[in-house]
Amino acid sequence: MERILIKDVLSESYIGKPVTVCGWVRSRRESKEFAFLVLSDGSAQETLQLVIPGEASAFRQLHRCNTGTAVKVNGVLKESPAKGQKYEMEVSEIEVFGEADPEKYPLQKKGHTLEFLREIGHLRPRTNTFGAIFRLRNILADSVHEFFRSRGFIWVHTPIITSSDCEGAGELFAVTSLDIENFPKKNDRADFSEDFFGKRAYLTVSGQLEAEFLAMSLGNVYTFGPTFRAENSNTTRHLSEFWMIEPEMAFADLEDDMKLAEDFFRFLCREVLAKGGKELAFLESQYKKISVDDLGRLADTTFARMSYTDAIKELKIAKEKFEFPVEWGTDLQSEHERYLTDKVIKGPVIVTNYPKKIKAFYMRMNDDGETVAAMDVLVPKVGEIIGGSQREERLDVLEGRMKQIGIPTENLQWYLDLRRFGSAPHAGFGLGFERLVQYITGMTNIRDVIPCPRAPREIAF
Ligand code: 4AD
Repeated sequence: MERILIKDVLSESYIGKPVTVCGWVRSRRESKEFAFLVLSDGSAQETLQLVIPGEASAFRQLHRCNTGTAVKVNGVLKESPAKGQKYEMEVSEIEVFGEADPEKYPLQKKGHTLEFLREIGHLRPRTNTFGAIFRLRNILADSVHEFFRSRGFIWVHTPIITSSDCEGAGELFAVTSLDIENFPKKNDRADFSEDFFGKRAYLTVSGQLEAEFLAMSLGNVYTFGPTFRAENSNTTRHLSEFWMIEPEMAFADLEDDMKLAEDFFRFLCREVLAKGGKELAFLESQYKKISVDDLGRLADTTFARMSYTDAIKELKIAKEKFEFPVEWGTDLQSEHERYLTDKVIKGPVIVTNYPKKIKAFYMRMNDDGETVAAMDVLVPKVGEIIGGSQREERLDVLEGRMKQIGIPTENLQWYLDLRRFGSAPHAGFGLGFERLVQYITGMTNIRDVIPCPRAPREIAF
């Protein structure tokens, strides 16, 4: 099918030329001599105005062209004399592929709430809002690869099925090929030796451990893939399945890690502004949750830095009443993160050197023996968007820490081998892709930035 995308056809170069466009009807308007259809094909924020003269054969198809109908139209592109668009298409023929019953098609012209649209997840990408979000998501995904490619990082593919719990939080989805109703047992306990892999297997929570061995051979690498967490967090910032970008650098320390995170974040802001201007402007005017100007400023801003200890001091002197009490040694809750970004710093901040007790086993121990070389990037409204650290490269310290926390070392001998053979300082981080898209689009609920959100009791589409 020779068709031209709406994003391409809206151009001076097609004026006066015959073109074929396919898409879904957004609306229909008729007068005595003309009919007008508004067509969208998902390729751009703009729609294409179709003008159908009364004498055209296309006119006879009009009664079938209700909102939601899929059509192919042939015609000629013209400059539009009407306000609101630069171009329009004078249509001679319409081929209707699939009609949409106006009594049943849920996306009628009136605005719908985001909550309602979540219930029709399979149709919401046809709206202006979700078209914009998913195109921005695509721009950001492309930009991720562009950033790392330009810096010589190698894109590696880490496994989705794994036997280790990288973050040690026990929030794992189990993977099995056995019948769970009749699971084999030994001494009254589930016997995984009969399972597919001969041991327990899970969906990965992070590709980091594998990215580490790839960095310790290839230098600078990154992963970009789905990760899974079975935490029962029913919030507007948590998904059970989300995409994470995890760079890992050999011969790098926490300072290098923070620098990379900051450059990366600013690069993504610049790219999305350059390539997704129309989508951003639409979301800004529709929802008033983002400011394109602010994004532009952010693209040039240096992130503030603050140690965890100083962050706690700030929170303790805050006049704000927090739901969760603040004490040195406790994890920062989202209300604390938001206070730091929105009230104290008024912008993004990198918090460093967290207490070892609230961070994962692989983080490098600082000389004080109490804190680890961790860093979290917090941004206004969303809170933590990046979590990273310098990794513990000293075998004895790492083994000691695993023992102390109670992490069995048998399964992770390969990980310890990296500290036995050619160990070196290395560091990396994870950027939650949906949190990034949430931040850029201003969507308040993370379920609205991924086509098929997975959250507790949510798996409809
Ligand atoms: O801080 P986290 O748990 O870090 C890791 O997984 C490390 N292994 C990363 C690394 O150093 N390579 O998660 C990293 C980021 C968070 O900052 C957040 O943006 C996102 O992943 N994230 C989630 N996003 C959506 N839903 C959830 N349930 C998330 N949990 C973490």
